[in-house]
Amino acid sequence: LWNSLNIIEDSIKNIREQVGQDEVLLALSGGVDSSVVAMLLHRAIGQQLTCVFVDNGLLRLHEGEQVMAMFAQHLGIKVIRVDAEQRFLGVLQGVSDPEQKRKIIGNLFIQVFEEEAKRLDTEGHQRGAGFRWLAQGTIYPDVIESAGSKTGKAHVIKSHHNVGGLPEKMHLKLVEPLRELFKDEVRKLGLELGLPLEMVYRHPFPGPGLGVRILGEVKKEYADILRLADAIFIEELRKQGWYDKTSQAFAVFLPVRSVGVMGDARKYEYVVSLRAVETIDFMTARWAHLPYALLETLSNRIINEVSGISRVCYDVSSKPPATIEWE
Ligand code: XMP
Repeated sequence: LWNSLNIIEDSIKNIREQVGQDEVLLALSGGVDSSVVAMLLHRAIGQQLTCVFVDNGLLRLHEGEQVMAMFAQHLGIKVIRVDAEQRFLGVLQGVSDPEQKRKIIGNLFIQVFEEEAKRLDTEGHQRGAGFRWLAQGTIYPDVIESAGSKTGKAHVIKSHHNVGGLPEKMHLKLVEPLRELFKDEVRKLGLELGLPLEMVYRHPFPGPGLGVRILGEVKKEYADILRLADAIFIEELRKQGWYDKTSQAFAVFLPVRSVGVMGDARKYEYVVSLRAVETIDFMTARWAHLPYALLETLSNRIINEVSGISRVCYDVSSKPPATIEWE
């Protein structure tokens, strides 16, 4: 019988056999796949697992704190948070081309992760240990995808996810406990392992994060504004029962100013567009037909509560021809 419980037992046994007493490193993003790998490995080998969570400054509101609260405080998993916001914003300065931004963010992610891995490894050696394994949240569709010769964005997505030449450079072997599983099986495993429902069924979030949801040049001011608007959007979707009816929903920051009035004062501030889609495979998507009353609440709340925004738009473009992300 092939159910979550015996998949878990099986993987734990396999992981223990595979890594023995060795130490294992994992890049934890807080997404479903890497979170489930963290849970599995923690069950299997406890403190032999070290997770590195890179905060690139392009995450959603309180995301870094939530990941740490959940994995480090609540579950007692060893997680190192690397605060790299300044570095990411630094290298993104003056860059406005979307693919360029993706490359820069992906490369710096690998660099930051590698530096941290080497630092931790050196510390480990002083205790007579050090990493032998790199764990990855590769799932079955990733295996198929990299076997084919994909080009374009799919390729970029993959290159962001795997951590470059680290396995060879540090002589690390790969441990990939989800390699044979589909996404829905990974989610079930996550639930069985005790991850909260909201986390297991969270909408996907792209590797480059808010970096591709701030159109053109990325600035901290824009990211801060966008985080607040996005949080209100998601909060209302959840409250009004629309989160699970949509496949992905987020706010996009438009760096153009628009005039408005607030009380007696004239405002001349930025615009956000809300995007919500329904899709099965993310290859095609229909814009979600959110109720007008919900859109009205969203617009009122965002304009009143987020300083810096004077106008809210709703994106009614389907894919194709539009992509889900704006960049
Ligand atoms: P598009 O915009 O191509 O998005 O219609 C399809 C799905 O892919 C996600 N996406 C990305 N994920 N790195 C990622 O990890 C990326 O560079 C990237 N670009 C798009 C997008 O959020 C949607 O779920």
